[in-house]
Amino acid sequence: MPGVYRLSIEDLSREVEEVSTLKIPSILVFGLPAHKDPMGTEAYANHGIVQQSVQAIKELAPELVVATDVCLCQYTDHGHCGIIQRGTVVNDETLELLSRIAVSHAEAGADIVAPSAMMDGQVKAIREALDSQGLHDTAIMAYSAKYASAFYGPFREAAESAPLFGDRRSYQMDPPNRREAMHEIAIDINEGADIVMVKPALSYLDIIRDARARFRVPIAAYNVSGEYAIIKSAGLNGWLDEKKVASEILMSMKRAGADIIITYFAKEAARWLQEIS
Ligand code: PBG
Ligand code: ZN
Repeated sequence: MPGVYRLSIEDLSREVEEVSTLKIPSILVFGLPAHKDPMGTEAYANHGIVQQSVQAIKELAPELVVATDVCLCQYTDHGHCGIIQRGTVVNDETLELLSRIAVSHAEAGADIVAPSAMMDGQVKAIREALDSQGLHDTAIMAYSAKYASAFYGPFREAAESAPLFGDRRSYQMDPPNRREAMHEIAIDINEGADIVMVKPALSYLDIIRDARARFRVPIAAYNVSGEYAIIKSAGLNGWLDEKKVASEILMSMKRAGADIIITYFAKEAARWLQEIS
């Protein structure tokens, strides 16, 4: 998408400098490995792409808060967020691998690990694994209410992570279901999540609002790739004022109750905010 790139380790210094100059406090790192396999081995390799990147970023900008996505779908050849046995994603066997990913990211220097696989018990498993390695200070941002959404399309194309068979509806949430989101968030808080997330953000503002009314932990809203694509493409076509529309949408997430907004507009939004102040 315009303005969004896959970076190599060599590209990091320029990117980190730009992010720091714009006073963006935190970034979320996703990895795209050179090789994918059934077990997503590169996700938890000590010299995996995310592990190397986090180390490099922390050397370049120690004050930048680094969060990492913890999932298998970018690393598995079948594109699912968990490992497959007898044709289906198996929850409990996946927890072990997610824990290894989280520990390897934390050891590389990640401040926050962000499990996005939607496996039951993932926050508890990761918290226990981190603590057992003495990584008590690594925080967990849980993708708690993550819906099975068509808005993830551009991301999956960029990450080559669309599932090879089936879909993610056996582990991601059903879009019409509102109550279940509160249940999922409550479970994650109980399991030790420091931050909970609603994803996507724009078409799920009611969920952010519900969560804000009910829970005290920080809430993150993930303004996903498809949401960015809509505004970006219309803006480039001259159909709407991209800056005004994007600002209004990001503001709506804030108004709904998000404490943290994860967005592909981050660099542009930071520039817009500097113009205002
Ligand atoms: C999966 C994952 C997804 C995104 C990031 N990691 C969703 C999915 O493929 O089901 C989407 C992010 C975006 O659209 O910006 N763990
Ligand atoms: Zn995934």
